[in-house]
Amino acid sequence: MTVHIRPLHPMFCGEVEGVDMKHPLNPDEVAAIEAGMDEYGVLIFHNQDITDEQQKAFSRNFGPLERPGAVSNITKEDERRLDPLMADVSNLDRHHKPFRADDRKRMFGLGNRLWHSDSSFRAVPAKYSLLSGRIVTSEGGNTQFADMRAAYNALDEKAKAEVEDLVCEHSLLYSRSKLGFEGLSAEELANFKSVWQRLVRTHPVTGRKSLYLSAHAGTIVGWQVPEARIFLHDLTEDATRSEFVYSHKWCQYDLVVWDNRQVMHRVRRFNDVEEVRDMRRTTVAGEEMTVEQAA
Ligand code: OGA
Ligand code: MN
Repeated sequence: MTVHIRPLHPMFCGEVEGVDMKHPLNPDEVAAIEAGMDEYGVLIFHNQDITDEQQKAFSRNFGPLERPGAVSNITKEDERRLDPLMADVSNLDRHHKPFRADDRKRMFGLGNRLWHSDSSFRAVPAKYSLLSGRIVTSEGGNTQFADMRAAYNALDEKAKAEVEDLVCEHSLLYSRSKLGFEGLSAEELANFKSVWQRLVRTHPVTGRKSLYLSAHAGTIVGWQVPEARIFLHDLTEDATRSEFVYSHKWCQYDLVVWDNRQVMHRVRRFNDVEEVRDMRRTTVAGEEMTVEQAA
């Protein structure tokens, strides 16, 4: 089968035909998908009724997988529903039942409703995320993507010069404190130690620049915190205006891949106390830090 990509938006996002993730891909197919990712930032594949093993195998075509673990969530190993390489983005506990309304893990998961880039809180942040919709909602729960290359391009020359060399501090603490999530244990606090990321990234293949924003960014190195926060807040508001956003309404067995180096994403509200939304993510690790880390 040949890989065919149809654009879904004037700037980014494509819909792919000619791929069946139940079977190994040949090098030409992998290359066509990678090239599509470089160009579109987000690719949507339909009708991929796959197992976790098939999802991991497909994902590994693009690099080694990130292991979610305690640096990315408050879920303990013995509370996990899925295997250690699958990020559980569902609203389900390990007995496959929706979290109770007051469950701490549910509160933590609400952070995905803020615009973010996956694993921007790791010194080497993620390359791709691959999200499989095993059970999708009847209403709500769309995933939105915002093109951070377009957002960068839209800055005027003065603003581009201002952001060029800025370095932000990222941590899960920052995104969760935006929601008023509190009561982290000493161990959780230690896991969520902040890292540094450049605010302007250059894509390793296309050379295109993008704004590396994320809800996990809590301050700018060398700035006063309130000034940094309002600066990042304003930039994020401009970067996520409707012309840069694509909203994906899920069908069961869609698999969506996004390049965390070029786009941000968020999930929209749904009735997560009553409806089941079983979403499973694999994450392809990034290849390098965006900036040397603080000593
Ligand atoms: C993710 C995420 C959004 C969603 O998987 O990283 O933010 O739609 N998910 O569940
Ligand atoms: Mn995410």
